[in-house]
Amino acid sequence: MHPSDRAGSLPLRDTSTRYGRLTRALHWSMAALLAWQFLGMGLKLVLGRTPVVSFFTSSHQKVGTVLFVLIVLRALWAVANRGNRPSHGGGLMGVAARAGHLSLYAVMLLVPLAALLRAYGSERVFAPFGFQIFAAQDPQIGWMVGFGNALHGELGWLMLALIAGHVAMVGLHEGMWRDGTLSRMAGRGRRRARLFD
Ligand code: HEM
Ligand code: HEM
Repeated sequence: MHPSDRAGSLPLRDTSTRYGRLTRALHWSMAALLAWQFLGMGLKLVLGRTPVVSFFTSSHQKVGTVLFVLIVLRALWAVANRGNRPSHGGGLMGVAARAGHLSLYAVMLLVPLAALLRAYGSERVFAPFGFQIFAAQDPQIGWMVGFGNALHGELGWLMLALIAGHVAMVGLHEGMWRDGTLSRMAGRGRRRARLFD
């Protein structure tokens, strides 16, 4: 066990009892940015394109591009901490938890990637931050645009469903099984972490 883990302060890296500072920073900042993305797209779906809705959606490409960079970093960090993270246990529940997290990673990568591919292949310049990231294609690259059109929105909503399942499972762990799952990702977890010592 990491010495600072025993002392109760949170280490940068993950440990076998809880996630460290960097994993938590990535997890919660991405959760907040994703909430913003879904709030905007949800409002657009319900209310259509109105000036108020534009306030929430006008940053969608910018925030989505930032999310793509964050998920790449997060995936690399997960690999760097492999074997050094809280265990999900054996049995069906452990397999289900791992499969659930893996699916979340898959959609977190694919959803922005599909949109970025579409932006790369499109006839329009892609400049979400005010400077050009992708030049306009002439003619557009059909398969990239088709891939983005077919997958971005659909997988986006699938991601929302997976997130709802993930949060519901955390609710079950906290409310029914009271096994300290939340304290691996939130809070200092001193008292709970001792249970695992
Ligand atoms: C993880 C990040 C992202 C999430 C969760 C996300 C989610 C969504 C969702 C749920 C929709 C609504 C689909 C519908 O109307 O049925 C949408 C639409 C859209 N997104 Fe994203 N998005 C992300 C990143 C991006 C990025 C990086 C770009 C630009 C490169 C982008 C561009 C668009 C565009 C242009 C639309 C409207 C057209 C369409 O439905 O495909 N998004 N997004
Ligand atoms: C209110 C919202 C959320 C809560 C309360 C929450 C809670 C948690 C908790 C307690 C864990 C540790 C689980 C364990 O060790 O078995 C965890 C891990 C994880 N969560 Fe969340 N989460 C939330 C939102 C999200 C969102 C929006 C995503 C991404 C789409 C996400 C993706 C993950 C992933 C992939 C893991 C595995 C650890 C990692 O690789 O980062 N979570 N979450």
